[in-house]
Amino acid sequence: MPAYSLEEIRQLEEWDQRFVWHPFTQMREYLQEPPLIFSQGEGVYLYDVQGNRYFDGNSSLWVAIHGHGRKELSDAIKAQLDRVAHTTLLGPANVPSIQLAKRLVEITPPSLDKVFYSDNGSTAVEIALKMAFQYWRQCRPPRMERTSYLSFREAYHGDTVGSVSVGGIELFHSIFGPLLFKHFSVPYPVYSKYTSKESPETISAQALEQCEKTLKNHAHEIAAVLIEPLVQGAAGIRTQAPGFLRGLRELCDRYEVFLITDEVFTGFGHTGKLFACEHENVTPDFMTLAKGLTGGYLPLAATMTTQQVFDGFLGTYSEFRTFFHGHTYTGNQLGCAAALASLDLFEKDNTLERLQPLIIHFEKKLDDLFERCDAVADIHQIGLVAGIDLCRSRRRQEFYTLEERVGAKICFDLRKYGIWLRPLGNTLVLVPPLISTAEQLDHLIFSIEHSLDGYSVA
Ligand SMILES: Cc1ncc(COP(=O)(O)O)c(C=O)c1O
Repeated sequence: MPAYSLEEIRQLEEWDQRFVWHPFTQMREYLQEPPLIFSQGEGVYLYDVQGNRYFDGNSSLWVAIHGHGRKELSDAIKAQLDRVAHTTLLGPANVPSIQLAKRLVEITPPSLDKVFYSDNGSTAVEIALKMAFQYWRQCRPPRMERTSYLSFREAYHGDTVGSVSVGGIELFHSIFGPLLFKHFSVPYPVYSKYTSKESPETISAQALEQCEKTLKNHAHEIAAVLIEPLVQGAAGIRTQAPGFLRGLRELCDRYEVFLITDEVFTGFGHTGKLFACEHENVTPDFMTLAKGLTGGYLPLAATMTTQQVFDGFLGTYSEFRTFFHGHTYTGNQLGCAAALASLDLFEKDNTLERLQPLIIHFEKKLDDLFERCDAVADIHQIGLVAGIDLCRSRRRQEFYTLEERVGAKICFDLRKYGIWLRPLGNTLVLVPPLISTAEQLDHLIFSIEHSLDGYSVA
């Protein structure tokens, strides 16, 4: 891997600190340390400008599902680049966006027959919210009072004002309160096989009861129920009690509101199936996709919906039932070419079949870690995703405050072991690339356990 000269590195560090404002980052603290600057990737590894190698334990924010430097993906983008990089989808069509839409309809749950493209997870959610809202205003008779949504505590659906409105993470969202539209919020049925006192059936039934109570009183005001299926990601990897999603689908049918499943994080394999909805055989009315859609190569998102919703927007031009929404890069040809190549890789690499024994291995390793390590308060795991909650002592029930930033400190220590992770508060978030090997996962868990040694008081 080509390392940069010391002089070049100093220059890059200085420019980063002078010119770049990093997202979700307290810049005063950031500026106190030299930045970690990645310059290359190969397989599951990233390399910084000094040439140090790191296992990419969060798949570059949950996108690099096939790893880095995949020739198949860059070849597909290069081939498309030689044809044309971008043409607008406002009016004309383009070849890869047509082909990708057909593929997405084929691989997603039945009834999701229409694809509306955008650029990122937040816009995919924003589009689902707006489509649901407009649909009810245009149906016969119109349901004008459906101006609200039902979503879940600790939910994260993105950072645009619409997606923040249906979010539930106090730390990120409360400051924007005065800007946000109204939504109803119910508890997410979090279940951990390690620490939950109630059975998953009880947790699921109690949460469904809460949802039903809200729907009974407010369904006439609710355009859609929005959920991160099977696991909340940004909340710190919070796994859902099995059976809940299926029950929620039934409630949405009973109260005639749309179900939006936000698969921006869960889509494309990390839960062990291509889409999380498949675990419970659920077909939503809208499904949002982004992150892994292009294998982490280019920003692209899709909002999928049904023929019924699509038909609700049909009319003569002068009826103005059109969905007046579109981004400049909607249906970008390079992004769609990358997404097609990424779907091909699932077949070529046999990704999902290969994943199943790896998930069993991963779960076993996490079981051992929980058993051995008193500095682990809890673990939530589904597929190749895990959140490891840290504490001072599980035995003594002593927990860290957010201000102690132990998650960040452990992630910093993990760099010594050649591992790069980004925490969520005091939770270590493990979302390794789907192509990881059992040995690489062993090293990841081994390194975490050793880093925690210095913190455990057991
Ligand atoms: C479930 C979910 N929805 C939406 C988003 C927002 O996606 P983006 O960051 O691409 O806007 C995220 C990002 O983490 C997510 O996890």
